[in-house]
Parts: sequence; structure tokens; C-alpha cells
Amino acid sequence: MTQNAYQGVEIKPRKMSFPFSKINSRNIFADNSVISAFAAALSSTFPPGEAEFIESVRNYRDQITDPTLKEQIRGFIGQEGHHSHQHKRANQVLKDLGFDAVRLEKHLEKDIKKMRERKYGTPKFRLAMTVGMEHLTAIMAEFLLENPEVIEPLEDSVQELLYWHAVEEIEHKAVAFDVYMQCEGDQKYLRTILRIATALFSIRIGLYMVALLFWARKFPSWKELKGFASFMWGKKGLVTKIKAPYKDYFKEGFHPWDHDNQELIDKWKETFYRPEHDRDSEKFDPETAGLKTAASA
Ligand SMILES: [Fe+2]
Ligand SMILES: [Fe+2]
Repeated sequence: MTQNAYQGVEIKPRKMSFPFSKINSRNIFADNSVISAFAAALSSTFPPGEAEFIESVRNYRDQITDPTLKEQIRGFIGQEGHHSHQHKRANQVLKDLGFDAVRLEKHLEKDIKKMRERKYGTPKFRLAMTVGMEHLTAIMAEFLLENPEVIEPLEDSVQELLYWHAVEEIEHKAVAFDVYMQCEGDQKYLRTILRIATALFSIRIGLYMVALLFWARKFPSWKELKGFASFMWGKKGLVTKIKAPYKDYFKEGFHPWDHDNQELIDKWKETFYRPEHDRDSEKFDPETAGLKTAASA
């Protein structure tokens, strides 16, 4: 018996679609262009990143016999596919307002394609990268759901997008991990890869922020830079708060559900979930979405 999937959580894709039409400035974040660029840079990485997460798990799908995990893989693919789809829409809005997140999407797509073609781009490496990135997204999601005031300055539809994405990241946070442990089982390798993934991701986000600001010909003020520093490294900052859960990954025998935060999912269902936005009418099939994005890279 492996350390298997958390049986209590249902991983069911919600086909959300948000009305982004009220976003009227690229500075989506409290008039701070640097934090706004951070949010846009992050959003730009989701469509290609999530397509790769789907692909890397799909590579192992046939090796999984456990029916619960098989079902959870289906849910994982569906959820990531829909996140990717909605962030693509958001990225287009950001582009129209002056932060070219779409250009960055394309850049990352190319880089992921190159990685797959390299010798080190083995199925094991790719899945371990996904497991690492899923840990990062799950702890950022937990931060967001525990500190909802952080995204209060955002327009309602963007808040909803982020809440929904955060909840589903928590719901499916163990899927890639469980697949990896059943098929590869080398947890030491996971730790090494998380270090690499964290460094590469941080550098990429930093460069993407600079690119967005540069393309928009926006040179941040000292006040904006200080605001960003406090947002990241202040007492209640993102990095400050996720440091401890980040490190848990390096504990012997770590499993993502060691952080039992089911209550955050329940709270969202009670307070923030708006079923009227659970109605994406566009023809969209997450089972093929990952492949499509990958193929067009
Ligand atoms: Fe996602
Ligand atoms: Fe995810």
C-alpha cells in the first residue's frame, strides 16, 4: 500500500467562466504596478505550465491501477485544463490593457518544448517538476485562502478566479505526488527537483515582471517597490508565510495532505462560490486541452 490519495476529497472540475469585462486597468493590484506585474507574470505561466502538468501526469496514466487515483487523475486533468483556459482569457485582457501576458505565455511554451526535447527531459524529471510546482501552487493557494484580504483590491471577477483556482489547487494537490510515488517512489529526487524548480520559477517570474514593466514603458516608483517588498517579504508577506509549509516538503515521508486544509475548501463553497459563474458554455475539452497547447508550442 502506498501513501495514497486523500480519499475524502472529491476532485471535480467546475467549468467556471468569469466576466473580466470590468477590469479597466493593467494595474489590477491596488494601483501598484509592481504587484500587478507580479500577478500578471504569474498568470502568464499558468496556461503553458498547467498544460505541461497535465502531460507529465498523463505519461504515467496507464501504469495506475488504483481506481480512486485513476478517477483523481481525471479530475486533475479537468481542473488544470479549465484553469489554463480561464487564465488564457485573463491574459488576453491583460494584454489588451498593456501588460503583454500572452507574449510571455508563448515564451514559456517554447521553453517547455525545448525542455521536453533535451536529454534530461525524461518522464520522471517532468513528473517530479510537476510535483514540485504543485507543492508551490498548493502552499500559495493556502496562503491566499487564509489571507483573503490580500486580494481585496482586485476586481471581483479576478478575486473569484483566484479563489476558485486556489481551492482546486488544494483539492488536487496530492494527485501528481501520488502518481509519482506509485510509479517512481524516489522521494529524495523530489526534494532535489523542488530546489531546482523553485529557483527557476523565481528567476522566471522576476524576469517576466521586468519584461512586462519594460514593454509597458512603466518605471516603478520607490513607493511601489517598497509596497511589493512588503507584499512579498513583510511580516504578513507571501514568502514569509509560505516558508514553513514549503520546508515541510523536505521532511522524511512528507505527503501533501499532511497539511490538512479541507476546511478552506468548505469555507469557499459556503462563502465565495458563485454557481452562476459555473457555466462555461464554450466548447472546451480538458482531456485534449493539454495536448493542444503542447502541440502548438
Ligand atoms: Fe491550476
Ligand atoms: Fe495544480
